[in-house]
Amino acid sequence: MAEQRVRRPMMAANWKMNKLVREAQEYVSQLLPRIENAEGVDVAIFAPFTSLVEVARMIRDTPVVAGAQNLYYEDSGAFTGEVSALMLQDIGAGAVLVGHSERREIFGESDELVARKTARAVEAGMLPVVCVGETQEERDAGEMWEKCSRQVQRVIEELGELNGESIVFAYEPIWAIGTGATASPEDAQDAIGQIRGLLGELRGEEFAEGVRILYGGSIKPGNVGEIMAQTDVDGGLVGGASLEANTFAELVNGAANHKDS
Ligand code: PGA
Repeated sequence: MAEQRVRRPMMAANWKMNKLVREAQEYVSQLLPRIENAEGVDVAIFAPFTSLVEVARMIRDTPVVAGAQNLYYEDSGAFTGEVSALMLQDIGAGAVLVGHSERREIFGESDELVARKTARAVEAGMLPVVCVGETQEERDAGEMWEKCSRQVQRVIEELGELNGESIVFAYEPIWAIGTGATASPEDAQDAIGQIRGLLGELRGEEFAEGVRILYGGSIKPGNVGEIMAQTDVDGGLVGGASLEANTFAELVNGAANHKDS
């Protein structure tokens, strides 16, 4: 008998800096009917702030979660250009990406900042999807685990008591993002299994078993099945292949069918 999956799979679209409001509207109206029979999978759309308002409005009465791609850890005040957890919740966003490698690499976000943002999201009752991952140079130098474990550990240190369901991690090797070079299923399992092991050491087995850990980096319909089949991989964070409603619907339906219970 197939082992029952304890964690509910998640398929998340990361639109990055793409789509005008009208394009977002078209996308959501195409996506919803195509995934209405997808059971046993959580779906999230991480949209830019400008279209997030409309995405959140359109999916309010559906199980799809509207997510932001960033937040700041203060609630309000003199922080020009920033958006707080309270503001996101105000428009109906339930989840938020934190520490995406593009934020870390292009905008200089430190482990410290990522940790504080994550803690605020959890405290506010939002679901943070915390991204970690190594560059090609770090992988070549044998520093993959040093980098990823440091990123995970710094986030966990910042958090008070919480259960594993309150946070999601995404392992996104930077060399696989937007390059077409997906990590092999074994590499994805290896990194994600190690992350789960570390979570167990830091917060105990029960916590670690409850945390969903996604893989991200050039996911597409042709490779999602073998990646999802890995024991510790609980879903995908999808950039390029999420921009087209049909393709993302295919990924969502694939993840739903992939439940091995
Ligand atoms: P990609 O991006 O699917 O285009 O590689 C993934 C991500 O950056 O979240």
